[in-house]
Formats: sequence, structure tokens, C-alpha cells
Amino acid sequence: MVKDIKNFDKDDYITPIFASRAIIEPIAKNKLNEKSIPEDIVYNLIKEELDLDANPSQNLASFVTTWVEEKAQKLVSDSIKYNLADEVEYPHIIEIQKRCLNILANLFNAPKNVCIAGTNTIGSSEAVMLAGLALKWKWKNRTKDSSNPNIIIGSNTHVVWKKFIRYFDVEPKIIDIDSNSFVVSKDKVIENVDSNTIGVCLTLGTTFTGEFEPVEEISNALDDLYKNNGLDVPIHVDAASGGFIAPFLYPDIKWDFRLQRVVSINVSGHKYGLAYPGIGWVLWRNKDYLPEELIFPLDYLGGQIETFTLNFSRASYGVVSQYYNFLRLGNEGYKRIFDNLKSVTGFIYGEIDNLYIPDKNTKEQIKIFEIQSKLDALPVVVWSANKSLNFNVYELSQKLREFGWVVPAYELPPNANNITVLRVVVKENFNIDLAEHFINDLKTAVNNLQSRESFTLNKNKTHPVC
Ligand SMILES: Cc1ncc(COP(=O)(O)O)c(C=O)c1O
Repeated sequence: MVKDIKNFDKDDYITPIFASRAIIEPIAKNKLNEKSIPEDIVYNLIKEELDLDANPSQNLASFVTTWVEEKAQKLVSDSIKYNLADEVEYPHIIEIQKRCLNILANLFNAPKNVCIAGTNTIGSSEAVMLAGLALKWKWKNRTKDSSNPNIIIGSNTHVVWKKFIRYFDVEPKIIDIDSNSFVVSKDKVIENVDSNTIGVCLTLGTTFTGEFEPVEEISNALDDLYKNNGLDVPIHVDAASGGFIAPFLYPDIKWDFRLQRVVSINVSGHKYGLAYPGIGWVLWRNKDYLPEELIFPLDYLGGQIETFTLNFSRASYGVVSQYYNFLRLGNEGYKRIFDNLKSVTGFIYGEIDNLYIPDKNTKEQIKIFEIQSKLDALPVVVWSANKSLNFNVYELSQKLREFGWVVPAYELPPNANNITVLRVVVKENFNIDLAEHFINDLKTAVNNLQSRESFTLNKNKTHPVC
């Protein structure tokens, strides 16, 4: 039958999509097809393949937005044709970008009446590269011997910092986290500072457990060091996820430009800024902290512009969707959404913390999981499994995939007693109903694994997804 269809030498306008030649015959995937393919058919071919991936609503691994309002989606597709590099041609998008930066500067308590510097980036990764480079150039310009710059980071920092130090040749001074709190301690930071330290990077909401590093405490300790030793070391805050959460849920925590020592901050618009993937931000407390060496003037696009991003051309839809959220949500909207995330997090935390199972031998009730995250941090739940269970976290992660849930299993950084954990990131569309479904599936998965006769250890190491 299929053979007969194949023998038609061409399709006509009534040919059903799934009986068209381009679909019943395999298409060339790694080289160009000889002939063009009608748009509907190409759309269906690609859509069907994309649908094979995980359902974004069940992707509890990533911090990155998986849902936005329809009107925001429309603006995204409306603005997809504008290249942000074409500043002269598209001055209104550049104006929108400036407004977003001002809104963020305000949110991060930048000093009033001071001209802050900043830019949108593709995500926090590009923002981190720029902030790190600025620290390096500022240090280079103020030191006589600029041969061995180093940066202080915790072993809990995101991989992007390890990329920065390798790409830009900075010696890492990696500080082990505190085994009780999974963040760096002020004493260890101070011990490691020397005259070649370009800066200290602290994370507001670590990838591993979602905790906030004690920025104010470390800033005060660095102030004391300056008074005693004259070493003046700036702080950069990697607020990829926490930069939006802290101002709304924990406004009293001082981590931002309220602290003199904080010279720059990065934040991911596509995480709790609630915009779709492709937007991040970096801000410096004022223009003095963005070294001239990073800024390039150019005039070949029809006017004078200055560029200081790693990429030249870039999509503008990220800026547009960020601005949509700023207007649409305002303070009230962000606060309401984050309050809701907090209560869903609390629900999941409570359920996981209260799961018990009879011990195989003694039949006594044993606690299945141990929570490793805190409730006054990012809306994430991180937990480890009791060692006497019939399964480990990697197997539980795999089992949950059978229900469609993507929950990464990974090891906490060194000095955390080799704890392996699972992590759920609570995002805007992970509502309480979905959370109930998740908990029910988690219980079924635990029962299925625990009642197996035997098991093979399949330690499929995964890392937390950003
Ligand atoms: C603390 C931290 N920094 C940097 C990044 C990288 O951010 P992006 O994915 O926006 O490039 C992440 C990603 O999760 C992160 O959690």
C-alpha cells in the first residue's frame, strides 16, 4: 500500500499531510534535501520531533521559564525580527532596554542620582563573563604587577564561573562550602584574599540547594580587612535566580547595591524574571566599575554606538518579554506569584519530609528522605534518601521519568559529606494541583522501587540543570 503511494510522483494540494511524499519517504537529515518541502509538512515534521522531548510543565530540573502568558508569546513573535545590535535603526527597543535596566537598578537599590551601567545579555552566563572581565580589568588598572589574578568562588558556584576562570585565565581560589549550611563562610573567604584577588563572587541562590550566601556578613568582613590591611576587594553577586526572588520575598536581606562593596550583579531574566529563555542582565553600581577597555565604539551601522557584550547581534525578544512582565506584573504581581511559589514549595517540602516506610527487617517505620534545602531561600526542594532503602536517588530520578517528571539527581559539592540529592525547582506554572500529582507519583515510584526483589545499582550521574 505504502509502495503505491510512493509511486505517485508528486503531491497535490489535497494530499493529506501524513501521506505526502516528504513524510512517507525519509528526509535527508544531515545534508540538504534535493527538493524543497511545503511549509505545513516541514512544520509537522519538526513539531512531531520536538514533541518527543520532555513535557516542559514536568521539567522540574530547570530554573528557566517554561510558561508565559499568550500576549507575551505574541510580543515575542512580533519582535523576533529585530536585531538588538541595530541600535540606530531600532531606537525604541534600545529605549525599552534602558527602562528595564533602570527598573532593575531600582529593584537592586542602586544609589539614586548615579548613572548605573549595565546591559542585557543572553543569560547569566554572558553576564558573568562580562562582570568577571570588568573585575579583572579594574584590578589590572590599579595594580603594578598584573601577572597572577585570582578570584574567590565557592565550590557551590555554577559551572559558568569555572568557565570564566578557564576562558579568561584567572586563577581560581575555590572555597569549600560549610558542611552545615552548604554556603561559603566569611572566615574562609578572608583567609584566601590577597593582593592579586580581583574580587569575591557570592551566589544569591545556589544551584545546589538554593541557599543565599551571607553577602552582608562577608561584605562587612571585607570592610574590616580593608581597614586593617588596606586590601580593597570588591564583591560580585551572582543573583541568577535570587535576584528576582529576594527583593519580593526577603526585602530585608542586604545583598545588593545597598552594600558599598557590591560592585556588580548579574540576574537571569529567563529564570525568576519569568521571561522565556534568552535573557539575562548585568549591572554595575556606577560607570566607574565598567572599565573603558571593555567598551568598543563603532560607526558602521548608520550612527555612533558603543558595544560591550560578548555577542554582537542578538535577539530582542528577550528584552521585550522582560519589559512585558515588568509592566504586566509590577511589584504586586511578582510578589503574588512568588508567595504562591513559596507555598507550593512548602507543600512539597512537608510531604517529602513526612514519608515513612516499614524497615525491611525490623518493620519499624523509617523516614525515607532528609530535606537538605531551606524554606527561606529559592523556591526549590532538595532532598537525600535514607541509605537503608532498596534504591538510591539516581534510580528514583529514572523512575520518575516513567511518569514524565524530570527531577535531577546529583552529588552536593565537596565537603558536604558526599550527599547525593534530588532537586525540584518550583516555577510559575507548577501549581498546587500539579504538585499533588507529583507527590502521588513520587509515592508510587518509591513503593515500586522499594518492593523490588533485587536491584542493580545504576549510578547515572546527572548534574543540576540551570
Ligand atoms: C547561580 C547561577 N549562576 C549562573 C547561571 C547560568 O545562568 P544562565 O543559564 O542564565 O546562563 C545559573 C543557571 O542556573 C545559576 O544558577
